[in-house]
Amino acid sequence: MAKPVKDKKIKGNIWEYVVGKKQEDQEAKGHPAPFPCELVRDHIKSWTNQGDIVFDPMCGSGTVARVATEMGRQYIGTDISHEYCEIARKRVKLIADAPALFIVE
Ligand SMILES: C[S@@+](CC[C@H](N)C(=O)[O-])C[C@H]1O[C@@H](n2cnc3c(N)ncnc32)[C@H](O)[C@@H]1O
Repeated sequence: MAKPVKDKKIKGNIWEYVVGKKQEDQEAKGHPAPFPCELVRDHIKSWTNQGDIVFDPMCGSGTVARVATEMGRQYIGTDISHEYCEIARKRVKLIADAPALFIVE
């Protein structure tokens, strides 16, 4: 098992993530190199505000689009592979169709 990441640690210049173990990351199965959702979440939180548009020109399994949707951002995602775009669409739909109890900030 991967070592758990401390949730109370103040972020420094090196951000650490458990890769590929969480359910939300398992959704990307079929893509060989997806980002962990948590990494994308930290970047979207750091660099954007609610309603902003996040553009990922090589979106692969759609982690950026998925997390942007979850966090109340808009997104544009492109990828050279139709197969990966299809994985991305399914992941975004899972989030978009889920009842919105609250928006992650
Ligand atoms: C490291 S993966 C991105 C993974 C993505 N962040 C995720 O979480 O799934 C890089 C992606 O770039 C795509 N790619 C490579 N060349 C490209 C190009 N010329 N235009 C668009 N996408 C490209 C690949 O198909 C691959 O999905």
